Order: sequence, then C-alpha cells, then structure tokens
Amino acid sequence: MSSDALSNLLQENRVFPPAAEFAAQANAQPAMYAQASADRLAFWAEQARALDWSQPFDEVLDWSQAPFARWFVGGRLNVAYNCVDRHVAAGHGDQVAIRFEGEPGDRRDITYAQLQDEVCQAANALLELGVGAGDRVAIYMPMIPEAIVAMLACARIGAPHSVVFGGFSAHALASRIDDAQATLVITADGQHRRGSAMPLKPAVDEALQTLAADGTSPVAHVLVVRRTGGSVEWTDGRDVWWHEIVERQSTAHQAEGFDSEHPLFILYTSGTTGKPKGILHTSGGYLTQASFTHRNVFDLKPDSDVYWCTADIGWVTGHSYIVYGPLSNRVTQVVYEGTPDTPTHDRWWDIVERHRVTILYTAPTAIRTFMKWGDHLPAGKDLSSLRLLGSVGEPINPEAWMWYREVIGGDRCPIVDTWWQTETGAIMISPLPGVTGTKPGSAMTALPGIGAAVVDDEGRPVANGGGGYLVLTEPWPSMLRGIWGDPQRYVDTYWSRWPQYYFAGDGAKLDDDGAIWLLGRVDDVMNVSGHRISTTEVESALVSHPKVAEAAVVGATDETTGQGIVAFVILRSGALADGEDGAPVIKELREHVAKEIGPIAKPRQVMIVAELPKTRSGKIMRRLLRDVAENRELGDATTLADPTVMNLIASGLATGTSED
Ligand code: PRX
Repeated sequence: MSSDALSNLLQENRVFPPAAEFAAQANAQPAMYAQASADRLAFWAEQARALDWSQPFDEVLDWSQAPFARWFVGGRLNVAYNCVDRHVAAGHGDQVAIRFEGEPGDRRDITYAQLQDEVCQAANALLELGVGAGDRVAIYMPMIPEAIVAMLACARIGAPHSVVFGGFSAHALASRIDDAQATLVITADGQHRRGSAMPLKPAVDEALQTLAADGTSPVAHVLVVRRTGGSVEWTDGRDVWWHEIVERQSTAHQAEGFDSEHPLFILYTSGTTGKPKGILHTSGGYLTQASFTHRNVFDLKPDSDVYWCTADIGWVTGHSYIVYGPLSNRVTQVVYEGTPDTPTHDRWWDIVERHRVTILYTAPTAIRTFMKWGDHLPAGKDLSSLRLLGSVGEPINPEAWMWYREVIGGDRCPIVDTWWQTETGAIMISPLPGVTGTKPGSAMTALPGIGAAVVDDEGRPVANGGGGYLVLTEPWPSMLRGIWGDPQRYVDTYWSRWPQYYFAGDGAKLDDDGAIWLLGRVDDVMNVSGHRISTTEVESALVSHPKVAEAAVVGATDETTGQGIVAFVILRSGALADGEDGAPVIKELREHVAKEIGPIAKPRQVMIVAELPKTRSGKIMRRLLRDVAENRELGDATTLADPTVMNLIASGLATGTSED
C-alpha cells in the first residue's frame, strides 16, 4: 500500500453511541469482551454449547499442528439437524423459515417442518444417487429455496458442497468441479433475472463436455430443479429432475453426527494467482462462530424478526448469513431471487415494506447504487419495520454509511459494518449493536474472542493513529482449515509473511481511539461490487485470446462498484491493421473475459497500448497503471526499465479506450 493511502487518514469524527432503548433489549452484552479476553477458549466453548452435539467435545482447540487447527475436538454434530430439526423438535415447526419471493412475483412460505421434510427427502435422493459422506457435490443454482435445501441435504449426509456462483461461466464451473472432483452437480433449468428467464443448465452441460473431452469428468449425475420451465438438453442416465427423484422420497432420514472437523464445504475464491483457491470449512467450529455472530451482531430475535440478507448463496455471505448462521438461530428470513431493478427500481423497498423486514444485510455497492437512483424510491415505501442495518464486502465510505443510516434506517437503526472473508468463515470485526458505538466507515473493533491487529512491515503492531496491514493474532473457530488439495499454498498464502499471524491481505489503520478502518486489499486482488477477482485471473483470460500478446490488469477506484477492472493490452502484430479502429477488438476482448470467467469479471475498460511499464526485473508496475486508470498524475517512475514507456502508453490512450 502506498504511504499516501496510509497517511490519508480519514477525517471522520462523527460517533453514534448505542441507543439506550436498543441496548436494553440487545442480545450482545458489554461483559462479553471481558469474558472472552479473560478466557478465550472458555468463551468459545460456551458458544459451541449453544449448539446441539450428539457427542460433546473434550478439547476446545488443538493448535499443535499450527496453522492447521482443530476445534471442539472429539465432538460430533449434524449441521443440518442444528439448522432445522432441533427447531421442529422444540415446537417451532410452524414457524416460517423462508419467505421466498421469485423475481416474477411468485411467493412461497416454507415452515421449519416443511424444510425438515424437504431436506430429508433431498438427503435421501442424494443417497439414492450414490452420494455418501465425504463425496463432493457442486451446486450451481439461482437464489431459490431448493438451493438452501440442497446445501442442507449435503450437510445432513456429510457430503461437502462446493457452491459455484450462478454468474460464473461454464469454464469457471468446470475448473471448480474438476478441482474438487465433484461427483454430483445440482443445478436448475434456468433463473429469472431482469425480467427474463435465463438458462443455467447449458453452462453445466458445456462444463461437463469440456471435462469429458479431457477424459477427467468425475460427475456421475446432474440433478436439475425446474424453475423457469424452458426446454433443456437432456443426457439420459446422467441427468435427473429434482421433482422426479426428490419428491418421491421418504421424509424420514436419521441425521448422523459427524466429527466436529468433518468438511462442511469448499468455496472457491480468487487469490493472487490465476487458479482460484478452494477454501475448506469444517463443521463444529464453523457453525459455532456463524451462529454466535449472527445472533449477536444482527441481534436476532427468532420470535419477532424478519431478516433479509441480499447476498447470493454463491458467496460466503450467503453460506454463513443466509444458510448456516440464520437457520441455526431459527430465523424467519426473506429470500429474493432477482435483481433490485425488476420490475421497478424500488423492488427492494417494496420487499421490505411487504414482509416488514426488521434486519437488512447488504453491500456498499448496492447502497451506492440506490443513492444514485434517488431518495424518492425508498421514501415511497414504509421502511419503519427496519431496526438494524448491516454492511459487508468492501469498505463503506462515510457518505454511503450516512445515507444508509438516514434514508434507509430513518436515523434510528444501528449499522453494523462487518469485516470478514471467505477464509474467516464468519464475521471477525464489527460493532456489537447495543454495546459498541459506531463511526461512519469504520468496522470498529474485533468481536469478543477474536484477535486482530494492525502491523507494520516488520509485523510490529502500530500505535493508534498508525496504519499498516490487518492480521489476525489468534486462531478462531470458523477459520479455514486449508486450501482443498494444496496445504502448502495455505501456509504460504496466509502464514508465511509473519508466521505467528494470519495475514488477511487487507490494509488498515487505527484511529486515535483504536477503531479499525479497512483500506482495501494490499495484494493483486480487486474488489468489484464486493466480489474478489484477481488481476492475474483476468490477465490469463485476456492472454488466452489469440489477438492478445500481453495484458496487465488493475482495479481502479469506481464510484459505484468500489473498484472497476481496467485492462491494458498489447495486441499481437497483425491483430489490428494500421489505422484500424480498436473498438471492435476491445468489445471482443471484454466479451471474451465474460465468457472465460463470468460477467462480473468483464473489464470496465480495455486500453490497447504499445508497451507496459515494467521494472528491470520484468515486474509490471501496476501502481503506474492505476495512476493512468484513475486519471492521476504519475507517481514515482524511476524504477522503470524504460522511462519512455509511460509516454507511449499515454499517447496510445486517445484511440484505445472503450467504455460502454
Ligand atoms: O478486502 C476485504 C473485503 O472483502 C475481502 C473478502 O472478500 P470475500 O472473501 O469475497 O468475502 C466477502 C464477504 C465477507 C476482504 O479481504 N471486505 C469484506 N468486508 C469488508 C471488507 N472491506 C472493508 N470492510 C468490510 N466490512
């Protein structure tokens, strides 16, 4: 991170202390901090005991093989039982678990008793399809209740799921299926998005075709939910309709307790190389922290709240704060399939009003989009049911934070800005509502039981007012247990810079009160609309196009999406005739990246250049490219191998830029 970024201390001095009325009813208690710091492991053991264990654990943490942790050693539990059955057993079978709203306007309420039946039927169907404990299942689905049922069914039988975001391409899906060697793919015929039925299954067909062509397809079956009803290609013997196999199953299924460290899921996320990392999470520790944080950070009251997390189950937020955290706490939650602008730009506020949503959890990029769309849209709906607002995925700028508080929260709802990662599994840094005061733009402090620090290059904690790198200083229950199939990469990526700390990859600063302000990634990972995309991944996609000789990608600040992807590309000779307009090639390249990775990775801008700025050792100087992308004066260019390169780039820009 540049020293500019560090010294650019945010001049934010507004503080919102917890309101007495909220504090009086809050789940979180001030004593939690002291209790956890007095005995961290005892604190987590107490949280773990809020779950239902078929066999109690006999050791809280085994860190003897650090950085490979084992939490709640010797304990056994069934994650799906904890999320569904125990609520039914406690007499809450009639409580609505999921209030589903499809984009076209179809609605469906699912009670805990119905959810239990569906999860058991789906579990029995998976068993019939030959899936057993330990087998991996890929889930490539839209935001429909069956996606949640599918995840819980996997958890119930101990088959780790690997959910792949429905916006990813066939190519990205194939590499994830291959890496995890999934034997089953669960998908849907299509999904409703922006007013049309978009096919989904063709991407699965294409992915499996690619894998079969390589002779490596591990997939025996594809289980297909009918959502849109369009016609689909069918491979007999491999493809099975969900309604044909699941609905005829028995609703009885005995949930077995699995070891606390039994793998629960793999979730792929971008790293600094082109190959996504399969982040591995296990059962007992993950569920303990997902559940604890959901209850206390969102102040969930199972009998009265209506919770809505707008994330997609394809991301970790969907895993921890739609499925495992909320359901383990007996939530009633809204699940919405579509986009916020369908059929009109106030769809979200319509949903809040109609379902009387009390807790809303979303991302800064959405908040900034709504700011742009105008205050009249939320003002036209009754949002008075809201009592708590959450933010996740990227730093929230103070202006968006204040807008969220005033326009959406009517100045009365605490905001929890929650910092965490796919790797951390659950929230790590966040205010506790009713306990911690908040400042617009700060995630405030580590939760009870969590150790976080901001350190300098040498790994020394900085004093208040200083900036550096965010590290986690203690193992935590929902920490990743490794990278699927690559333990060394786990050690190298997170535990090698300072072996005693987990290195998160984020820059941060402490303000004068010791509150933490996240400053964004310090590695070559971009954050676009709260989604992590590595520069190398996009570069590899670009150079796989026959017209591209070399490519360098940077994340440039973007008003709405946080960062936008800007690509600098050197074309192969002959790709563009003398004087030929670059626009068609640029369009082709943007489409190519969308096809290779998915539309979320489509560069905002592609610039055709003659050269790239490199150091003498050949490393691309992204910092200078970022200056160009952000229209800034160039920073220090003295280490460039060829100082004239930047002039070359600047002179080429006039003709080579495309923004659409
Ligand atoms: O840079 C941080 C940013 O998102 C990264 C983690 O991305 P991912 O694994 O996709 O998980 C996103 C949802 C948890 C982090 O390294 N990030 C996440 N939450 C915040 C954030 N940056 C600032 N403030 C946050 N609240």
